[in-house]
Amino acid sequence: MISKAGPARRMKSIKQSGIRRFFALAMNMPHCINLSVGEPDFSPPEHTLKAGFRAASEGNTHYSATNGVPELREALSQKTYRDYGLRYDPDSEILVTVGGTEAVLATLLGWLNLGDEVLIPDPGFVVYEPDVLLAEGTPVHVPLVESNNFSPSPIDVMSLITEKSRVIVLNYPNNPTGAVLPYEEIAALAKIAVERDLIVISDEVYEKIVYDGSRHYCLAAFPGMRERTLVVNSFSKTYAMTGLRVGYVCGSKELLSPLWLVHQYMVACVDTISQHIALAALNGPQDFVRDMVREFDKRRHLVFERLNEIAGFRCSLPKGAFYAFPNIEGFGMPSEKFAEFLAKEAGVLTVPGSAFGSLGENHIRLSYATSYPKLEEALDRMEKALRKLA
Ligand SMILES: Cc1ncc(COP(=O)(O)O)c(C=O)c1O
Repeated sequence: MISKAGPARRMKSIKQSGIRRFFALAMNMPHCINLSVGEPDFSPPEHTLKAGFRAASEGNTHYSATNGVPELREALSQKTYRDYGLRYDPDSEILVTVGGTEAVLATLLGWLNLGDEVLIPDPGFVVYEPDVLLAEGTPVHVPLVESNNFSPSPIDVMSLITEKSRVIVLNYPNNPTGAVLPYEEIAALAKIAVERDLIVISDEVYEKIVYDGSRHYCLAAFPGMRERTLVVNSFSKTYAMTGLRVGYVCGSKELLSPLWLVHQYMVACVDTISQHIALAALNGPQDFVRDMVREFDKRRHLVFERLNEIAGFRCSLPKGAFYAFPNIEGFGMPSEKFAEFLAKEAGVLTVPGSAFGSLGENHIRLSYATSYPKLEEALDRMEKALRKLA
């Protein structure tokens, strides 16, 4: 035994993510079609990769500034103005992070004191709860229910706020439900955040992946929100760059300062070559993003239509991101058992809804960031295997 005391007490409450468990299962089941992963099956645009090679050969292999390559911060500042009319100072109000993942944890480490309460969505992206626990906060689950289009109800939110509430995490377009939040509903939540003096982490990594001509609204652009919102974003999903690990967080200098310190001592800076690739993505033509979203849209309809044809599934049409989150109550099985059944009997990997919180139960998550023919094959296989159940 290395130390009698064992690992840090705070680690006792941290469990492995339910997604990773199914990811590991995929490694041992190569015949399976994997609909469990949350990453686009596209490669980044060619010109961005060339920019990476160029950056390497021009000697950009050293540490960058702690908060990121200046040209990238400048380009990000222009982007937030172009997209949402929000001006962030590139030197003090933008921090380039190791994906959105680091941005969320750095925010919580930077702002929480022991026992501070953080309102997180349930079901919600798998890092929120462990991140709150790592920062020694207390997660408080805000229910997202199908009958309310997976939007947080302002009444629920109000009833969960106490004098210990410090932060609320919002994530739209949403993982795992595929929901987007309409303008009026964001406005109502923004009003609560102002009245109850909450810091908002707005995780907007799927901002560009919305359908049916709908628009994404950045939370920080609502009245009174710029000074209390940290907008988390990333190049991972928009430009299919999950492995390059470039994200960023925008917020007032006051909000960003503690994150800056966490980031400095945790990672020093983000990979410099990756930052140059991200810069080329931002400054180059955006038709890649449009084409990718158009392809996701076709797959979205395929998954939605085929799932609803299988007795037992009830699936609403996702409005954003690249996930379907069908209800599986009709099969009378817990989601973990159901996902295992699909893996073993259909050769299709999905994620049980329970991996995203207890209210995710009775659902599974399917990612349609997989080619159209593979999705067709996966749905055929599921239909055949589930017929046996009936
Ligand atoms: C809602 C949400 N936020 C943040 C992330 C983190 O992505 P990255 O760290 O690659 O930017 C993900 C990845 O799946 C996500 O789904």
